Amino acid sequence: MSKRVLTTESGAPVADNQNSATAGVGGPILLQDQHLLEKLARFNRERIPERVVHARGSGAYGYFEVTDDVTGFTKADFLSQVGKRTETFIRFSTVADSLGGADAVRDPRGFALKFYTEEGNYDLVGNNTPVFFIKDPIKFPDFIHSQKRDPFTGRQEPDNVWDFWAHAPEATHQITWLMGDRGIPASYRHMNGYGSHTYQWTNAAGEAFFVKYHFKTNQGVRSLSSEQAAELVGKDANSHQTDLLQAIERGVNPSWTLYVQVMPASEAADYRFNPFDLTKVWPHADYPLQRVGRLVLDRNPDNVFAEVEQAAFSPNNFVPGIGPSPDKMLQGRLFAYADAHRYRLGVNHTQLPVNAPKATTADNYGRDGLMATRYGSRHDKNYEPNSYAGPSQTDAALSAPLAIAGWTGTHAAPTHVKDDDFFQAGELYRLMSDDEKSRLIANIAGGLSQVTRDDVIEKNLAHFHAADPEYGKRVEEAVRALRED
Ligand code: HEM
Repeated sequence: MSKRVLTTESGAPVADNQNSATAGVGGPILLQDQHLLEKLARFNRERIPERVVHARGSGAYGYFEVTDDVTGFTKADFLSQVGKRTETFIRFSTVADSLGGADAVRDPRGFALKFYTEEGNYDLVGNNTPVFFIKDPIKFPDFIHSQKRDPFTGRQEPDNVWDFWAHAPEATHQITWLMGDRGIPASYRHMNGYGSHTYQWTNAAGEAFFVKYHFKTNQGVRSLSSEQAAELVGKDANSHQTDLLQAIERGVNPSWTLYVQVMPASEAADYRFNPFDLTKVWPHADYPLQRVGRLVLDRNPDNVFAEVEQAAFSPNNFVPGIGPSPDKMLQGRLFAYADAHRYRLGVNHTQLPVNAPKATTADNYGRDGLMATRYGSRHDKNYEPNSYAGPSQTDAALSAPLAIAGWTGTHAAPTHVKDDDFFQAGELYRLMSDDEKSRLIANIAGGLSQVTRDDVIEKNLAHFHAADPEYGKRVEEAVRALRED
């Protein structure tokens, strides 16, 4: 094999990569040392802005294989045949901490999946939790500010975390979930993934359905107690990354089975819960799980920066047969992600290999911008319509239209008969075993007891009382005991 020659960025051979050029032996460095200048300048630019949330994560390639016929519900081509396989890329993440944060912490986990379909990339940007803390995107920046580091102390502050929750009774369900056993997954392989939002599927006949996605881990759900997690963080802050990387390198390919809950669109208006409220689940007794296929991860990225840090997922990357629901949170996210990518990665982030379509090609009149690498031939026009056989629209809507009624205004999401902020939180509490309830109470009390203001504690206690009187009483007693310590 011929010896590889070290070169500058412009391809010229480098004579010395150990000693910079100086004016005489022991003299100052020369501006003409192009290799040194380039090396230092490039190094200064290695970092890009980290994701404003979900900064810390791990990624892997794999495939999705259809196991069951869902063509009655969606015309999506990648779901059109049993046995059909589609290449995928997934990025798992924690939410609140920065890029250097630890993996084994109590926090939701991101479950962002890109399907490289023949009809374009479909991004399903979910979490390992079926619900979320809030139900209106206008609250998202405030919520995240309260959970990330305080601008003065530079630490996550229990005062901020719980003060926000004191003012967000709708978060009680997700708090109960997060403080319970599943709040710290043992690894990314041992947790479920959820689309969380309600999405819309449309079949070939134009009929609309509302769906919720559930990816059930085939490795089994495994979690860590707060104590186990604290110990693990001390030993390996990158424990989830280590686990995923090593499992796939060993050929132990993790997999998930995808199920959907399907609601005919006509049932949405009268369902007992608002089906577009992200703080609520649809009990399986109402809408049972129907199997769709399996997701298998079988390849680690070769380069974490290029493929994981530069990965860009956007909930508005839909394909024919799949579309948004009126969930206000989802609607807010349809804007937020591509906007974040334009800031973090630039307008041409869609041309990066991990983000570009793989089973088809993007063909449109978007041009230029920083770092453009995609352009047509010299004969391609950059405007439309044109007389030169350029790409043109299909006139076929991707998904069915959503019905709307009423007046514009800053409306709260409508409530259905069983909707309140606490019923489903209480149901989740009552489902837990005695041991699990005890750990839940201890986890909540551990955080809430650190809050300095009594009124903030009282407001939070009222939420747990409203969810279930026993739940509230036990949290109250545990908080009091810790504060008297
Ligand atoms: C209105 C509410 C929300 C807003 C405005 C929002 C906004 C954002 C933004 C700006 C990012 C960083 C994107 C990037 O720089 O690449 C992000 C990442 C992420 N968000 Fe959200 N988010 C919201 C709610 C949610 C919900 C409800 C879920 C899950 C159901 C979720 C899951 C994720 C995931 C998994 C990532 C990381 C994606 C990746 O791995 O690159 N977010 N979010």
